Amino acid sequence: MSSNSPSNESTWTGYLHGRRVILGVSGSIAAYKAALLARALVARGADVTTVLTEAATRFIAPLTFEALTQNKAYTDADLWTGPGVLHVELARNADLVLIAPATQDLLARVAAGRANDLLSLVVAEFSGPVGLCPAMHTAMWESRATQDAVHRLQSFGYQVLAPDSGPLASGDEGSGRLPEMQVILDFAEGLLAPKDLAGLRVMVTAGPTREPIDPVRMLTNPSSGKMGFALAREAYLRGGSVNLILGPVHDQPPAFIEVKHVQTALDMADAVNRDIHETDVLLMCAAVVDFAPVNSTDTKIEKDGFDDVLRLKRNPDILSGVTAMEKRPFVVGFAAQTDLLLEKARKKMQKKHPDLLFANLVGRGRVFGRDVAAGLLLRPDGSHTEVTVRPKRAVARLILDEVKKGLK
Ligand code: C5P
Repeated sequence: MSSNSPSNESTWTGYLHGRRVILGVSGSIAAYKAALLARALVARGADVTTVLTEAATRFIAPLTFEALTQNKAYTDADLWTGPGVLHVELARNADLVLIAPATQDLLARVAAGRANDLLSLVVAEFSGPVGLCPAMHTAMWESRATQDAVHRLQSFGYQVLAPDSGPLASGDEGSGRLPEMQVILDFAEGLLAPKDLAGLRVMVTAGPTREPIDPVRMLTNPSSGKMGFALAREAYLRGGSVNLILGPVHDQPPAFIEVKHVQTALDMADAVNRDIHETDVLLMCAAVVDFAPVNSTDTKIEKDGFDDVLRLKRNPDILSGVTAMEKRPFVVGFAAQTDLLLEKARKKMQKKHPDLLFANLVGRGRVFGRDVAAGLLLRPDGSHTEVTVRPKRAVARLILDEVKKGLK
């Protein structure tokens, strides 16, 4: 299946879902990581066919990839063995060619237009998106030859993922490491995603806020930030420029997204207001704590002297502040309710005036911290869509599809 619209929305996990990927592996020590990559691509629903260079087979066996992908893994030994023209068949039946790791020699060969082994033949024949993930020693990566090859590859329209810095197989430290798996997966998804949000400046707030009572105690909530991360990732992959304003969470945000870290609701309000006039869409996903202690002390409150009363003041409602602006961006609100979902969501819509509101049930292990969500998507005209349980990625896609419709 090569369509961007997966058949089953409720299991959709991203733009690799149902897509045919040729995973090219060349002969770097990082070739062993390609096995983990093959597995991760398959886990995201991709149909993976591996093509190994001769040098790659000295680091890792084709059989490893065959077992992980349930597809034949090809090497130069397969060239001209069958009735068809193998490189043409492989290229014709692929949606993406992803080469990880890509050695200096592989980069140089493809940049020079060489087609002297199966992998370079497939690239030469393929007209779809090509992503290359270089991995080599620092001096090789920084060499004039490699940098020239990278520029040339980019001029062909190929995407090159910059390697990470860190410990290398040689025992040295420096740039040249194959990036983390999640970074490569996002890179691959970015090559397949439609760029229908290009040019849009998207602000996402995510996670909880923390309202300090004293230096060791606080008011907060269990928001994990995962829904906000899904929205940020989705907007980025579709070409939006994303500004993520993030409360304290345990998980790491998507690596390629600019993040502003905040603690309290007041910090978050400041961060939102600072950039709001350069924002086209605000996705107000954060679980902002509604109240803050009137007096937050600099020293720990001792139990003995405490009168058991914590005085609270209301935090500003950030979303309502934005929707009251004369020139406002398109605003999506989120409502977490424990009961009477539609009724309370409608009231929230009338009170806060977002352009869309995603309401979901929380409590009793629902939503907070989980990878799936379900709920109701309300529009200002009173209509709503029920969103059945699905990965937060799929919820994010649906919300951004609605944003796009609303912006028209
Ligand atoms: O009223 P409630 O907290 O349920 O509203 C949820 C929506 O309002 C969310 O989009 C949340 O980010 C936003 N909100 C806000 N400022 C607050 C409280 C909530 O922007 N102080």
